[in-house]
Amino acid sequence: MKYKHLNVRPKALEALKHYNLPKGPLGFGKYSTPIMIVCDYADGKWGELKLAPFAFLNLLPTAKVFHYAQEVFEGMKAYRVDGKGPYLFRPDKNFERFNLSCKRMAIPEIPREYFMEAIQAITAYSAEFIPQKTGESLYLRPFTIATEESLGIKPSEKYKFVVVACPSDAYFTKGTVPVMIERQAARAGMGGTGNAKTGGNYAASLISAIEAKERGYLMTLWLDSLEKRYVEELSGMNFFCIINGELWTPALTETILVGITRDSIIHLAKDMGLKVHEERIDITELITSIKNNECTEAFACGTAAIISPIECLGENHGTRYTFRDQGGNISLKLRQRLLDIQEGRYQAPEGWLVKVDLPQL
Ligand code: COI
Repeated sequence: MKYKHLNVRPKALEALKHYNLPKGPLGFGKYSTPIMIVCDYADGKWGELKLAPFAFLNLLPTAKVFHYAQEVFEGMKAYRVDGKGPYLFRPDKNFERFNLSCKRMAIPEIPREYFMEAIQAITAYSAEFIPQKTGESLYLRPFTIATEESLGIKPSEKYKFVVVACPSDAYFTKGTVPVMIERQAARAGMGGTGNAKTGGNYAASLISAIEAKERGYLMTLWLDSLEKRYVEELSGMNFFCIINGELWTPALTETILVGITRDSIIHLAKDMGLKVHEERIDITELITSIKNNECTEAFACGTAAIISPIECLGENHGTRYTFRDQGGNISLKLRQRLLDIQEGRYQAPEGWLVKVDLPQL
C-alpha cells in the first residue's frame, strides 16, 4: 500500500531494531510491539498519522476521557501462519463499526483512508513480531479518546486516535468456559450504548465478572434489561448454541454488539449446511432444552475469543446446567473453518482476507 498520511518517526524504526518478542506464553493483550500510531484531531480535522515509539500518552488530568468516558475502540487481528500473510480479516467491518460507535459517542468519525492506512502500517511495521502458531495473532486495538482539557459536559473538541499492536494468544487457551447467568444487573438498556464498542459497557460488566469469578465461572451471560428473560451477549463476546443440530444466536437488538465474528460464523455455518436461527432466545426455554439434551452445546465468539466452547450455564446460587457436548462438537468444526480462512488455508469469501504489504525498511 502507498501511504498518503503516514509520517514514520526515526525513533520508531530504532525501537523496532531493538525489540524481541518475550519468551514464554504471550497471553492476550499483555505485550505490545514497540510502536504505535497516533493521530490528533483539532480545529475540526484529523492531522497526520504518526508512526511513533510505543510510549505513554501525554494527557492532562482534565482530559474529558478521564471524566466522561468519551471513547470508542475496536478489536481486530493480523495473521501470519505457515509463512503466509500478513492478512487482515474483514477490516472494512471494523472500520464501519468503529464509526458507528463514534457516532453514538459524539466523536468525529475517522476517514476510511486514515483508518485503513493506520491498520496496514502498524501491521506492516510489526510483521516480524506476529506470532506464527495457529490461534495466535497480532491483536490490533484502534481507539479514539476525548483529549480536550475541560470539565464541561459537552463533546470534546480534541481527540487522539491511537492504534497499538499486541502479539497475542487466543483469549481463552484452556478448556471450556463455565458461564454465570446474570439475573440482577444489566449490561445495556434500550436507547443506551450497548451496540457501541465503548469502554463504559465493559466497565459496567465488571461487577458481575467479580461475582462470576467468586462462584467459579469465567464469564457472565447477560439477559435483556427489561424482562431479564432473553439472552443477549457475554460481555465482549456473542453467544451461540446448538439446538437439535441447528445453530441459534440471539437476533441483534440495540443492546447487543454487532459481532464481526458472529456475522462470519452465520455465513460459514450456512455454507457448511447448518440451519441458522437469529431469534429471541428465552433463558427458561434454553435451560429446559439443555436439561432435555436438545441443546447440546454452546459457545462464545469474538475477535479475541475466536470460538470458545461453553462448559455450562449456571446460577449464582450454584445450580449448573451442563451441555452434553461440552467440548463443542460443531463449535470446534466452525472454529477450525474460521481459523483456516483467517490463517490462509481455506478459500476466504470474496473480500474477507486483505493482504498487508511489508515496508521497505
Ligand atoms: C474483541 O474480541 O476484540 C473484544 O474487544 C472483546 C474483549 C473481550 C477483548
